[in-house]
Amino acid sequence: MPSALKLDRAAVRIGGGLVWSDVDLEVEQGEFVAILGPNGAGKSTLLKALLGLVPLSHGSVLVFGHPVRRGNDDVGYLPQRRRFDPDLRIRATDLVRLGLDGGRWGVPLPSAAKRRRVAQMIELVGATGYQDRAIGELSGGEQQRVLIAQALVSGARMLMLDEPLESLDLSNQQAISELIRGICERQGVTVLLVAHDVNPILPFIDRVVYVAGGHVLSGQPRDVIRTETLTRLYGAPVEVLHTGDGRLVVVGQYEPVSHHAIDH
Ligand SMILES: Nc1ncnc2c1ncn2[C@@H]1O[C@H](COP(=O)(O)OP(=O)(O)O)[C@@H](O)[C@H]1O
Ligand SMILES: [Mg+2]
Repeated sequence: MPSALKLDRAAVRIGGGLVWSDVDLEVEQGEFVAILGPNGAGKSTLLKALLGLVPLSHGSVLVFGHPVRRGNDDVGYLPQRRRFDPDLRIRATDLVRLGLDGGRWGVPLPSAAKRRRVAQMIELVGATGYQDRAIGELSGGEQQRVLIAQALVSGARMLMLDEPLESLDLSNQQAISELIRGICERQGVTVLLVAHDVNPILPFIDRVVYVAGGHVLSGQPRDVIRTETLTRLYGAPVEVLHTGDGRLVVVGQYEPVSHHAIDH
């Protein structure tokens, strides 16, 4: 069984500057991986490189043993900061169905089979109760569930979720993390989830990939999220605090200074 993904000495250069380099990373199929790191470190760029949306300037990347290509049905992607206009009238179920268009489920399937497929995915994410409501009027957590269904509907074996927990309250962060954990286990889907805060996902993940200081480090949360390890990775003093309620807090982290802040 090939690895879900394998990066070998990979580097990405944007506008003349290296975002990160010398990245060796291997993720097994069915793993739930959190991608962490400060703003601007290159987490979104990592996902885009794995999707073939950003070229490597060095090294190689394989997804399920094959070179990356755009529009790969094996991979479902939720870009960062997707919000819906509250007035958007499209129904949740139609949004999920859009995920079938153009892919391997696009043309040849009869519409009954498409409807069944969409209904299965809606049930999988627990969105049956609001599938006929307009997406714009759903809560943030409900919208995320519908988007996860859309990302999975064409048969993706890997989900790449860029900050899907952003702007959700704590209980929704936990509920969505739990849902994703279940999808990993029951469907064997490999998940890469970019997160700002590791705490809500800590109980559910198999592994963390930490992006900072132009480098990427991967391992067990307890091995990676440590003062010495992160200080070395950032190339600047960082301290990992263990709070009384069992949370991990990374303090003193330096934001990269050599780039402009760009909103993507
Ligand atoms: N299209 C782009 N044009 C110019 N700079 C970019 C572009 N995309 C990303 N960058 C820069 O690359 C770095 C990494 O960005 P990004 O991957 O979005 O970081 P993160 O997701 O960790 O916040 C940042 O310094 C960002 O400004
Ligand atoms: Mg980002």
